[in-house]
Amino acid sequence: MKATSASETAAATDDAPAFDTSVAHVARVYNYWLGGTDNFAADRAAAEQAMSAFPDIVLSARANRAFLRRTVTYLARDIGIRQFLDIGTGIPSANNTHEVAQSVAPDSRVVYIDNDPIVLAHARLLLTGSSNGATDYIDADLRQADQILAKAANTLDFTQPVAVMLMAMLQHLTDDEDPYAIVGKLIAAVPSNSYLVLSHPAKDIHAMEMAAMAERLNQMMAEKVTFRSEAEVARFFTGLELVEPGMTNVPDWRPDTEEEASSPAALWAGVARKP
Ligand SMILES: C[S@@+](CC[C@H](N)C(=O)[O-])C[C@H]1O[C@@H](n2cnc3c(N)ncnc32)[C@H](O)[C@@H]1O
Repeated sequence: MKATSASETAAATDDAPAFDTSVAHVARVYNYWLGGTDNFAADRAAAEQAMSAFPDIVLSARANRAFLRRTVTYLARDIGIRQFLDIGTGIPSANNTHEVAQSVAPDSRVVYIDNDPIVLAHARLLLTGSSNGATDYIDADLRQADQILAKAANTLDFTQPVAVMLMAMLQHLTDDEDPYAIVGKLIAAVPSNSYLVLSHPAKDIHAMEMAAMAERLNQMMAEKVTFRSEAEVARFFTGLELVEPGMTNVPDWRPDTEEEASSPAALWAGVARKP
């Protein structure tokens, strides 16, 4: 195992950072939907409220994880990508990015970023990589993209292609925070033949249920959500070349099985190359 970790991250990991359990947080709500046990009463209450508005949120979250597995496999196996910057990592689950990438290519280098202390508390689990590769965890906020890029450069070589992964996390940035400029900054920092992999909750798939779910989450969860339309999500790929089949609902992006293809979900998603 070769794990390179920012020093302040390692120190915080050793001392298990404190986190507020009285208010729902998205990493723990999402963990509940995925069947995990790293959640508290407030998280479960928010998750259940969301499920009563949109019962398919559980299958949607699982379909999103399957999309992550398929895209990382595609990039490592078919394209030869060896560097992954996974922003908004979440609590470790099945098929974490480094596990998928390093099972295909053991020399893959993966940097995880999240701003939630409970994800930081689990960072050690994410830092077990293959002997030839490297895995790092950085406790940072996507709104500070410059800091993320500077710290990620300790592990990733930004002269070589990088897959920038933003899975089900841009909904936590409001339009006022200009997520398009932030994604643009990330893409500007990586060379040609790098990739953007993105999934984003849709406001125009199961529109009424998704609107009701957003309203409930925004009442109960610390991180607010802005769900976006197909056109709004497509804008993140401006200047990039979407690979086939283009931007789709997550189950429609190269499903491996009939079961994956038929899963309900409401997330726009795609994989695009920087020319
Ligand atoms: C819904 S989870 C998605 C987890 C994982 N990417 C996946 O698709 O399975 C969203 C994650 O983004 C993180 N997040 C939200 N806003 C963030 C921000 N501004 N900077 C960094 N991470 C953020 C949350 O803490 C949470 O772990």
